[in-house]
Amino acid sequence: MARDLKNFLDKLESIKNSLSEEINKITTSSELDQIRIKFLGRKGELAKVMKGLPHLPKEYKPEAGKVANKIKNVITNLIEQKQLELEEQGAKRGQIDITLPGREQFIGSLHPITITIQEICSVFKSLGFEIVTGPEIETDFYNFEALNIPKDHPARDMQDTLYISENILLRTHTSPLQVRTMLKTTPPVAAIAPGKVYRRDSDLTHSPMFHQIEGFLVDKDVNMGDLRGTLTYFVQHIFSSDTKVRFRPSFFPFTEPSAEVDISCVICNGSGFVNGSPCRVCKQTGWVEILGCGLIDPEVFKAVSYDPEKYSGFAFGLGVERVAMLKYGINDLRIFFENDIRFLNQFTDFPV
Ligand code: PHE
Repeated sequence: MARDLKNFLDKLESIKNSLSEEINKITTSSELDQIRIKFLGRKGELAKVMKGLPHLPKEYKPEAGKVANKIKNVITNLIEQKQLELEEQGAKRGQIDITLPGREQFIGSLHPITITIQEICSVFKSLGFEIVTGPEIETDFYNFEALNIPKDHPARDMQDTLYISENILLRTHTSPLQVRTMLKTTPPVAAIAPGKVYRRDSDLTHSPMFHQIEGFLVDKDVNMGDLRGTLTYFVQHIFSSDTKVRFRPSFFPFTEPSAEVDISCVICNGSGFVNGSPCRVCKQTGWVEILGCGLIDPEVFKAVSYDPEKYSGFAFGLGVERVAMLKYGINDLRIFFENDIRFLNQFTDFPV
């Protein structure tokens, strides 16, 4: 019966009308509270009318429900508006209730990768290294050629490098900063270069974008002992003072000799076991790799017009995500890039 529906809708309409009338007359927020209860309360006007909804013929229910919702929204909005109006008037008259609790602010925090970069940079700054940065879009010259990576080197393979054009690419490492900095400076020079790098690689343990920190030092008579001492200092300041360092022979076109550096596993303290179970981080070896390094190849010095007879230097490149995972005991690389607020909220000790 259409009359039932009309009746229902009329009642809703009249609730709205009497609210509009009453709300115009009030001047205080306690009066507004009463109105809120009278109209929207559990036993209020709207609730009373809504009790009739189940008794309406089925075909009218959707329409009746829709209108009821609309009216409820209108009423809520009118009350909210009035609330603001009253607050404003109160403020104008200097009647702000200063005993009300303040609104809590959401405090952001630094991303764990940013924290790790800052900590690493500050260790090297304390050793006198300067911080340099450079472009993420690089030329073939800085990323490869000047670093003694010949045209047919496997690192240039399309598999690894993201090319923009034949000569322009996304840098695959931070080593171009060695070249850029050396071209601008005469030795002695000691610098570190943090930044994003890109590779065509994406799986559980590789992200197409990740962070590296390059470090290098050029002076007279720089040797592997200087490199080892510097890296040991760094590792023991970032992890703990009993962290051990191990060099393994390796190869990079831009360093000679080259090494990969392992540190004693910070998760199992080098024992290979955590609470009796095999350590998953170091796979029971007691060691984890953290960076590549070596003495700067004379070919690189030639590219930047440094005299290799006069100068020598060391360089290293480390993966920031790797250091952060070890520092915070994180076992999944992807979590750094998902920006899940529940993860990021755990770093509020480092407010922005
Ligand atoms: N650029 C190298 C890489 O990305 C790391 C490295 C830097 C090695 C400096 C030696 C010296 O793997």
